[in-house]
Amino acid sequence: MNPRNLKTFPKTHLSISVALPLVAFLAFCTQAFAQPESSSPSQPVFRLDGGDTTYAFGVNERGELQQLYWGGRISAQDAVPPAHPEKELASFDSSYNNTPQEYAGWGAGLFQEPALKVTFADGNRDLVLHYVSSTKPDVNSLEITLKDISRAITVTLHYKIDPESGILARSATIENSEPKPVMIEQAAAASFSLPPAHYTLNYLTGRWAGEWTLNRETIQAGERVLESRRGTTGHQANPWFAIGKGDADEEHGETWFGALAWSGSWRIVVEQDQIDKVRITGGFNPFDFGYQLKTGEKLETPVFYAGYSHHGFGGASRLLNHFTVSHILPEGPNPKPRPVIYNSWEATEFAVTEAGQEALAEKAAALGIDRFVMDDGWFGQRKTDHAGLGDWYVNKEKFPNGLKPLIDKVHSLGMDFGLWVEPEMVNPNSDLYRQHPDWVLNFPGRPRTEQRNQLVLNLARQDVRDYVYGFLDKLLSENQIAFLKWDYNRNWSEPGWDQLPPEEQKKVYVQFTRNLYSILAELRAKHPGVEIESCSGGGGRVDLGILHYTDEVWPSDNTDPLDRLTQQDGFTRAYPVQVMMAWVTDSPHWLNGRTTSVTYRMLVSMQGSLGIGGNLNKWSDADLTTTKRLIAAYHQVQKTITQGDLYRLISPTNGSEFSATETVSPDKSQAVFFAFAHSTQEERGFPRLQLLGLDPTAEYSLTSIEGKAIPGTPAQASGSWWMNHGVDLDLHGDFQAAAFRLDRK
Ligand code: GLA
Repeated sequence: MNPRNLKTFPKTHLSISVALPLVAFLAFCTQAFAQPESSSPSQPVFRLDGGDTTYAFGVNERGELQQLYWGGRISAQDAVPPAHPEKELASFDSSYNNTPQEYAGWGAGLFQEPALKVTFADGNRDLVLHYVSSTKPDVNSLEITLKDISRAITVTLHYKIDPESGILARSATIENSEPKPVMIEQAAAASFSLPPAHYTLNYLTGRWAGEWTLNRETIQAGERVLESRRGTTGHQANPWFAIGKGDADEEHGETWFGALAWSGSWRIVVEQDQIDKVRITGGFNPFDFGYQLKTGEKLETPVFYAGYSHHGFGGASRLLNHFTVSHILPEGPNPKPRPVIYNSWEATEFAVTEAGQEALAEKAAALGIDRFVMDDGWFGQRKTDHAGLGDWYVNKEKFPNGLKPLIDKVHSLGMDFGLWVEPEMVNPNSDLYRQHPDWVLNFPGRPRTEQRNQLVLNLARQDVRDYVYGFLDKLLSENQIAFLKWDYNRNWSEPGWDQLPPEEQKKVYVQFTRNLYSILAELRAKHPGVEIESCSGGGGRVDLGILHYTDEVWPSDNTDPLDRLTQQDGFTRAYPVQVMMAWVTDSPHWLNGRTTSVTYRMLVSMQGSLGIGGNLNKWSDADLTTTKRLIAAYHQVQKTITQGDLYRLISPTNGSEFSATETVSPDKSQAVFFAFAHSTQEERGFPRLQLLGLDPTAEYSLTSIEGKAIPGTPAQASGSWWMNHGVDLDLHGDFQAAAFRLDRK
């Protein structure tokens, strides 16, 4: 397992009970939570307990690894019975097919989604994986070795459970010890199974400027394929799912969820099989996949994180989001709240100049902004999106004395400085492309499809990787840059890597992403203070893989506040508010012409990690005053908003007239809630808001950040009052917003 992908979880009293071969088993029985005697040495049962969750699997009579249980935590004294293969139900549905395997090889007549599919050098494509051995690297981890019944292909399954959340990290390492190369055609990180029941699947889809649409559907017979074939995570679907049982809703019911930590082409298949079991299999996208393993070589899959909650879809997202902040983010478990940024993109686009940026910096500093970020347009011959990508030297016409005067100015104003880069791309109209036309993804002799007038550098190549690392290292070494906005503005076409023999060229799907991660890791190690944002034309590269190396993400180029309410509702189901950058930009909005007040725009963005991205030269004094006041109010409660427990009190989805969120600090000493009325009808007011997650016995004072509660609302009351009686707000009209804080006395 790539140790970078799994941080060490804190040790607790929790234990994994594992039945082991006899000698080890006897030794293990001295531990508090040893698997009781129903586990036999020939058919061991493995069990991981964490948070409110138990996950159990075992070896069946045939030697296959079979899932036994995934759900609410069971007593340490309860014995999980050993695994038995499912019956053959008819001559069409074999036992191998019906048995919910942990990691099934494609062979023996498997028609379900395999975890692993291989072609051997002699043309054999049958792979049947049986249990060999297990080890327990630490109290929360397991490693299980499987091997094909006759060929020297071994798979090591890695399991690690987080004792606090019960979130499981699973991945696999596939090793070829055959005398000849084998071709891996499909490799998942993990498969998970659920017993037959009525389930609802939640998943996120979108497009440029329209990311984070929540889809909800009943799981029915067949497959729902969530995937990207784009070489990157993509806007079109996100590698996350949540499944609710029966009538599970936002705050109630059993839910299972997962997220794949991979920023290349990926796939998650949710499958209801012919006997109504549900299986979730996720990993590399098998489309156009082919990873040749020579003798002695290994392939590591990405990590698939998965968990369980009793508390509905809201509970699922709170668990996952806390886990991400604590165990995935590079500065976890206690990252500092994000600096409030100003970004110049919507103000100036490519027309950046030293004087223009300095003028914006002065206005930004006066608002109480922490970080000034210069976006696209500062380098090479970058006057439009037709030229310059690849030429990472400062444009001397725009910045005659380099970046230093602007950076010094920004520092003198009390802000730190950030810069936009798009390292993996090149415009054909650039010095880099003229020198190295072979450095891009391409098939020789075929057209090179441009998108936004650019091509994708083949980062899988070592020389390209070294060039990209080299210019970024130089940029960071020569300038006082606190932050990089790392963009990626197209997806792949013609994914050739013609320096390699044909049978190895498809390794590009793995090696490109690996090299991206290694560049990010090396830059962070060499420049420890530097923070990085993952942007891909908005939210095209947001996943738990990239979040291990980046501090925040840009969810969408669409900054219209009404659209953002829905996007933020979708985004936070999978990713924490801590990483969700949210800018306030100009009104009317460039995308849809909608006019909204600066107060409404600010309150929408204050639900995330706040930024300002408008043309401040055009803002009225009144708007600047409001913005300054609200930035100051935000700074006071930012940690609660961005790192607390998020409750979606009213979802803005499905054309809802209203929406509301609440965030409660982990110690329940503070809550902040926001309410938005999109367009109220007649005299009807805002629905009464019954808050959630407070300490019922504590007293909380209510303070307005913006807007009013109705007359007679108490200034102070118990948590049980705010949660049971609730609060009525005075919100009427179009695009109205209010925000309040509750502070424990
Ligand atoms: C992408 C980003 C924008 C901006 C532009 C610059 O579209 O998402 O925020 O940085 O590139 O070209």
